[in-house]
Amino acid sequence: MSAQAFLESRFGLGGSVFLVTGGAGGIGFAAARAAAQAGAVAVINDLDPERTEQAAATLRDEGLEATAAPFSVTDPDAVRAGIARILDRHGRIDSLFSNAGNQNRKAFLDYRPDEWASLWKTHVDGAFNLCQAVLPSMVERRGGRIVLMSSISAFGSRGTISAYATAKGGLAAMTRALAVEYGPLGIACNAIAPGYVATGFTTAMQGNEAFQRYIESDVPARRWGTPEDIAGVAVFLAGPASGFINGQVIPVDGGLLATL
Ligand SMILES: NC(=O)c1ccc[n+]([C@@H]2O[C@H](COP(=O)([O-])OP(=O)(O)OC[C@H]3O[C@@H](n4cnc5c(N)ncnc54)[C@H](O)[C@@H]3O)[C@@H](O)[C@H]2O)c1
Repeated sequence: MSAQAFLESRFGLGGSVFLVTGGAGGIGFAAARAAAQAGAVAVINDLDPERTEQAAATLRDEGLEATAAPFSVTDPDAVRAGIARILDRHGRIDSLFSNAGNQNRKAFLDYRPDEWASLWKTHVDGAFNLCQAVLPSMVERRGGRIVLMSSISAFGSRGTISAYATAKGGLAAMTRALAVEYGPLGIACNAIAPGYVATGFTTAMQGNEAFQRYIESDVPARRWGTPEDIAGVAVFLAGPASGFINGQVIPVDGGLLATL
C-alpha cells in the first residue's frame, strides 16, 4: 500500500458528511476546512445565515465541498428542521462536531440566573438538541461519530469562568454517557478539551499583557493554540484511525494540564 493510500484509508474522510456547528469562524471553520481537505463534504452551521453561507463559499472557492446550514443550536425545533434539511440534501451525517459556544466572564456572585442559564443553554442544551436530532439516523445506519467541544476548564479552572467551566464539565460527562449508551450501536462519542486558542473567543485575553506573559511562562508549548491545532484532532476523531476511541475527553492544550 502506498503512503498516500494508507493515509487516505486511516485518516481520510472521503465520501463522508461532516457537520460542524458554530463553524463560520474560529475553530469550527478550521475544522470544516480540514474535514473538507480530508475528503468530506463540510456542512457548516452557525447563527447568522449570511456569515454561514460566506464560510461555505470560501471553502468552495478553495475547490472543497461545503454547504451552509444556519440555525441556532439552542432552538430544538430549528435544530430538528435544520438536521432534516441536511439529511434530505446529503443523505447522511457521518460525523457531528458540536462546537458552537459562548462565553461570559464575571465573578460567580455577579451572574444573574439568565446569564448563567445562557451558557448552559448554548453549550449543553445545544449539544443535547443536536445529538437528539442526529442520533436517530446514526442508530439506523449503526454508525457515526459525535465530537463534543469541552475545554480544559472541565478539569481545572480560573476566576470568572464558573458558568463556562460548569457547562464544559457537563459536556465531558455527556461524552461518557453517550459513549456508553451508543457505543454498542457502532457510534462513538468523544470530546476535545482545548487549552487557550487564539480566536475571536479569546480576543480580550490576547490583548492583555499579563495574560500573554502567563501563556509564555506557564503553557509548556509557550504559545497560544491555533484553530488548526484543534481541527486536526476533530478530523482524527471523525475518521477510521480513531475507531476504537470512545468516551474520551482529549486535552489539546500545549501541555498546560500537565503543569504543576
Ligand atoms: N478559543 C479557545 O481558547 C477555546 C478553548 C476551549 C474551548 N473552546 C470552545 O471552542 C468552541 C469554538 O470556539 P472558538 O474559539 O472557535 O470561538 P468563536 O467565537 O470563533 O466560535 C464560536 C462560534 O459559535 C457560534 N455560535 C454561538 N452560539 C451559537 C448558536 N446558538 N447556534 C449556532 N452557532 C452559535 C458563534 O457565532 C461562533 O461562530 C466553543 O465551544 C468554545 O467554548 C474555545
